[in-house]
Amino acid sequence: AKGAAMVTAVAYRLTEQARQIQQTMAEFRLSKAQLLEVKKRMKVEIERGLKKDTHKEATVKMLPTFVRRTPDGTENGDFLALDLGGTNFRVLLVKIRSGKKRSVEMHNKIYAIPIEVMQGTGEELFDHIVYCISDFLDYMGMKSARLPLGFTFSFPCHQTSLDAGILVTWTKGFKATDCEGEDVVELLREAIKRKEEFELDVVAIVNDTVGTMMTCAYEEPNCEVGLIAGTGSNACYMEETKNIEIVEGNEGRMCVNMEWGAFGDNGCLDDIRTKYDQAVDENSLNEGKQRYEKMCSGMYLGEIVRQILIDLTKRGFLFRGQISETLKTRGIFETKFLSQIESDRLALLQVRAILQQLGLDSTCDDSIIVKEVCGTVSRRAAQICGAGMAAVVDKIRENRGLDHLDITVGVDGTLYKLHPHFSRIFQQTVKELAPKCNVIFLLSEDGSGKGAALITAVGCRQRELDAN
Ligand code: GLC
Repeated sequence: AKGAAMVTAVAYRLTEQARQIQQTMAEFRLSKAQLLEVKKRMKVEIERGLKKDTHKEATVKMLPTFVRRTPDGTENGDFLALDLGGTNFRVLLVKIRSGKKRSVEMHNKIYAIPIEVMQGTGEELFDHIVYCISDFLDYMGMKSARLPLGFTFSFPCHQTSLDAGILVTWTKGFKATDCEGEDVVELLREAIKRKEEFELDVVAIVNDTVGTMMTCAYEEPNCEVGLIAGTGSNACYMEETKNIEIVEGNEGRMCVNMEWGAFGDNGCLDDIRTKYDQAVDENSLNEGKQRYEKMCSGMYLGEIVRQILIDLTKRGFLFRGQISETLKTRGIFETKFLSQIESDRLALLQVRAILQQLGLDSTCDDSIIVKEVCGTVSRRAAQICGAGMAAVVDKIRENRGLDHLDITVGVDGTLYKLHPHFSRIFQQTVKELAPKCNVIFLLSEDGSGKGAALITAVGCRQRELDAN
């Protein structure tokens, strides 16, 4: 009888444990009503960003890009492109040919940006960038060419023209000094001058979302939205110029870089943020900022998972109650690990092997829990990101006074491309929350580089027209 009582006690403890774990997970499971609410709030913030009176204090900045149309196939020439702010820093040579057999040929090289440089002084950062350009030009044998350059700089910039962009604030892993409030195009030009080795003509500064939209629009003219679901999260779309009150003119459209990562920075998402989201924020380089991004992008999903695992371990539900050094390490769960852990083809034993690789000793039960935690966190990410996108496409539909809108969204980003479930759940959410829009998602191939070159081509031509 004593044995039976003990068995019952253990079983009770196990179910109580399962219940508590489920209770923790439940905070991350959003209902359709909650997601609709996220969509509605995004709509409100979009309007605040667009309106002159509210733009200053708005969290979703809705930054004008001075890109007034998508490509039409007449773009032509050789361009240099830089891509800074994603998983890799790259320098590219892009050869665009117009005409019947239009084509884009690209050569590129990836360079590391050491963390000391990302978080050192602005001068060091830009000197490093120019050093990489120099190496690339040597490699291509093009040092004397004075090429036009498009700079994909994936951070919020206040633009007053195609080739001027004042950095509003660093986001993601960057924190170099003396850059915020400065025109990054000037910082780049000065660094090129300091080097005294080659000349370049910096024509355009481009957000990665815009580059992605332009790249996809080159193939599919209906593409008027760009999305990045990668290290960071952001979107852009073609807005009616008359609605962008801080830009003069009422004619036509202009692409706005939404900087939706900052959605929620005024507290408007606090009711769905969990204590784990708060912990991730407190542990970050930019506390209080980019709160939406911290709930739905690759740089932070692993961090949310880690915070939950730490908590579950403290409560004795995981890893035999032992918090290892690994679990205390920031950034251990990169997107690629989450993607592996959540892959359906993976047996639990393999999940354990991955955790082992990370330095986490797990039991079979542990691995089941870890997998569930990852799945729950990434599902919420895909859903709230989908809710944001639903607000965008519905806004475009309303702008055009349509009952039904067909539109294409160009997408890039490691989370979207690598994760086994993110893209599916994201698309499903957009469909559910914006039923009057038929949205097609197009993966961009090398969006940042190609898009920057296309925008540079348009910029060069515009300059020639203005000169004549
Ligand atoms: C961050 C940046 C934004 C960029 C996004 C994706 O949110 O602030 O400019 O588009 O990351 O890289």
